[in-house]
This record gives sequence, structure tokens and C-alpha cells, in this order.
Amino acid sequence: MLIAPSILSADFGNLTSEVQKVCQAKADMLHIDVMDGHFVPNLTFGLPIVEAIDNASTIPLDIHLMVEDNSFFVEMFAPLKPRFISFHFESEKHHHRVIQKIKEFGISPAIAINPATSIESVKEVIKYVDMVLLMSVNPGFGGQKFIPIYHKIKEVKKVAPTVLVEVDGGVNDLNAPKLKEAGVDILVAGSYVFKHSNYEQAIKSLRV
Ligand code: DX5
Ligand code: ZN
Repeated sequence: MLIAPSILSADFGNLTSEVQKVCQAKADMLHIDVMDGHFVPNLTFGLPIVEAIDNASTIPLDIHLMVEDNSFFVEMFAPLKPRFISFHFESEKHHHRVIQKIKEFGISPAIAINPATSIESVKEVIKYVDMVLLMSVNPGFGGQKFIPIYHKIKEVKKVAPTVLVEVDGGVNDLNAPKLKEAGVDILVAGSYVFKHSNYEQAIKSLRV
């Protein structure tokens, strides 16, 4: 199981050292929450900041778009060659077009789905991506309460057995064992890691 700390909960006044610390703490990927203030009621990082994060990082970026204009942001971040770019099923009319665009840049495409979106309704899309990002909070903010979406992990694996499953939102040491048991491949954790006094211990406690 891979652990991708979400930089959204880091101390932005010390961004470089936060990135270095979490890389040294044996994180596998750095999760970057890109919000446009339209799809979600919050605004986060543009290219210069994500570039600065990437320069300080020794591990791959995992870019989670929470935006209305997916193509625009794919083109913005693709030159950084992140490991994944996820976009929201709920924000896009032309899913296969965006997936194709991400693939053309040589990046693994992923589809993110809100807690209220069923796997049944996205099954025509998940066959075409490398990863499904299951939101376990409504997107927009760190530090929210975990919504149990354990059953959706198994549903994804049933429809698309080789597709990776990432869970994002309210992940901590209490729900991680159950998520692992349900078959999750990647855990995103923001406040749990960055509010912990020891990042390495926090990451280790999620691997269970
Ligand atoms: C929420 C973001 C998450 C968030 C997770 O919209 O997608 O990645 O940073 O933060 P925690 O782990 O604190 O819920
Ligand atoms: Zn996220």
C-alpha cells in the first residue's frame, strides 16, 4: 500500500522544508490538491507553487484536479510529468477526451469520484483509467470527517480488476486497517500526517 501525504495540510510558510521532511519520512507520492474556486469552494495552487513543490520533492507528484476546466489544467501541469493526474467525474462532460489528453502526455489518467457518486454510474469511464480516486469527504477542504466508502473499493475492483484504487479524505490510523482490508492501493492523508509530531511515524502507522 502506498502513502501519498496531501500537501494541502502542510505549513505553507515553510513549504520547501515541509516537502523535504515528508519525503524523508518515506512517503511514496506527494498529493497535490488543485482547486479553482468554482468546482469546489476553495482555491489552492497554480503552476509556480506546484513547480516549487516539485523542485523540492524527491518523490513523484500525484495531482488531484478539483476544477471545472480539466483540459486547461491538464495542459498546465503535464510538463511536470506527475505520476497521476486525477480529474472529477462530476466536473466533466467529455471524460474520454480528457483521459486521452492525459495519456498523450505520457501520464497515467485517474478519475476522482465524490462520495455520493456510485460506481455503477462511472463504470464506462473506469475501464479507461489507471486509477480511481474514491473521495471519502466532499472535495474542497482538508480536515473533514471520513465518510465510509469501503464497499466502493470492492465495486471498483469488480468492474476493473487491474485499476488502482486511491482513497482521499479523513484517512487516519483508525480507518486505514479497514481500507487495507477492503483492497485499497493508495492512501492520501493530509491533516493526519501534517498535524502529527513525527511524519515518519504517522506514515508508518497508515501502512499497517
Ligand atoms: C480534499 C482533498 C484532500 C485533503 C485531504 O478536497 O482532496 O486531498 O487534502 O485532507 P485530510 O486527510 O485532512 O482529509
Ligand atoms: Zn485530494
